[in-house]
Amino acid sequence: MSKTICRLFIAGLICAVTVARGATLPTKFLGANSCASTSCHGGGGAKQNQFLVWSLQDFHSQRPPATLTSARSKQIAEALEIKDPTADSRCTSCHAPLAAVPENLRGENFKISEGVSCESCHGPAENWLRAHTRPDYTRADRTAAGLRDLQNLYVRANTCVACHQNVDAKILQAGHPELIFELDGQSVAEPKHWSAEKNGNGAQAWLVGQAVALREMSWQMASEKSPTEDQRLRLDGLRWLLEKIKAMKGGATDLNSGSPSQSTSAEIFNRIKSESDRLAIDMAATQWTEAMTRQFLNTLAGASPDFRADAIPQPLQARRAERLVLALDRLVTALPELKNNQPAQSALNQLFQLAQSRPDFDPAKFAAALEIFSRALVENK
Ligand code: HEC
Ligand code: HEC
Ligand code: HEC
Repeated sequence: MSKTICRLFIAGLICAVTVARGATLPTKFLGANSCASTSCHGGGGAKQNQFLVWSLQDFHSQRPPATLTSARSKQIAEALEIKDPTADSRCTSCHAPLAAVPENLRGENFKISEGVSCESCHGPAENWLRAHTRPDYTRADRTAAGLRDLQNLYVRANTCVACHQNVDAKILQAGHPELIFELDGQSVAEPKHWSAEKNGNGAQAWLVGQAVALREMSWQMASEKSPTEDQRLRLDGLRWLLEKIKAMKGGATDLNSGSPSQSTSAEIFNRIKSESDRLAIDMAATQWTEAMTRQFLNTLAGASPDFRADAIPQPLQARRAERLVLALDRLVTALPELKNNQPAQSALNQLFQLAQSRPDFDPAKFAAALEIFSRALVENK
């Protein structure tokens, strides 16, 4: 699959076409109404209600384009000298992605106002709409026709991350909220229009998502002419976390890239990019077990010495902690035996509080709380 193309077209719109047929003819977008008849995905039963769940409950259907008309968007737009955020590709690429579809690829029912629509995630429907209901139509047939294989966690992570991690430094400076991609938690937060067993293992989704997030950040850094210090710290925070995972898998810790804790050159960013992509692909293809979740949790819970290391600057420690608490949260949630482990749960809450404000972040306090968390895992089995 052509990841480069996916990343260039930030909303991931065009990549389905490339994936489908090795960059030949583009495919038409038919619009959500093409999926909405009651005998297809607009019915009341649990297996046919996808259109209703999306249009009535999912924030992707109404909110993203509506946000571009808010007062906050107006402020952001003014700071960037954007006249109309609802018509500027710097905003619509994520908030109204269908705006990027060329005129000749718009079907009859096509509406930009659909926001992040069925085809934004599943791929443009022209080549599979009719055929995809046939009983003899296999998963391979569908994928070949451009129906994205979102059951594959790597493909799913690539789809979501396109809109959920990187924003241009200029847009952030203009007041846009910072984005932080975390596939597991964000999948749980999305009102489901699919059956639970297609969710994949939560911890596995978390790890694939984090590896893909690091790839996107390093890609952005490698192509940024003057990356900000803050962007670099964010990347190094996540890099630290995934290095720990890679180290315990016994592989070479290539994410470490020869520099102690801070990434600097385009060459390093490019190396981290391909390493993290490989990690994502490997992890998506792994037969996941609960034992792996436990191992990862124990390793990360044992990270307190890193927060006691005086040589690491406080802003980097704060970024490490930010990713670490999200990781612990997803790993704890994935393990049934920890549901009723009150000491571990309250230690985790404490860690979240300590990681909340970056300027106030106190690495030594965090290290102490992490030790309490780590003991609770062992003592309250
Ligand atoms: C084409 C861009 C796009 C894609 C693809 C996309 N999203 Fe979103 N998503 C958005 C935008 C834009 C918002 C913000 C809506 C608003 O508040 O205006 C959003 C909001 C959300 C939210 C609520 C806000 C938050 O961050 O907690 C969740 C959760 C979410 N998306 C999860 C997902 C998941 C899971 C996927 C992949 C299956 C996905 N998204 C794919 C654009 C996208
Ligand atoms: C890379 C994708 C992307 C781009 C480009 C983007 N946004 Fe967003 N935007 C998001 C996502 C995702 C969220 C939801 C963040 C969350 O809830 O965590 C969001 C949230 C927002 C919010 C806050 C919504 C709220 O909660 O009140 C505003 C306002 C906003 N965007 C405006 C804009 C404007 C204006 C532009 C263009 C200058 C723009 N965005 C470009 C993805 C994007
Ligand atoms: C934000 C991304 C996103 C959007 C928007 C979206 N989907 Fe999905 N959809 C997914 C994911 C992720 C899955 C789960 C993986 C899979 O089954 O392919 C899924 C699964 C499905 C399934 C399989 C359900 C099952 O349990 O077998 C159907 C059917 C479906 N979507 C239809 C739709 C339709 C119709 C729309 C628009 C009305 C839509 N989707 C919009 C991401 C999305």
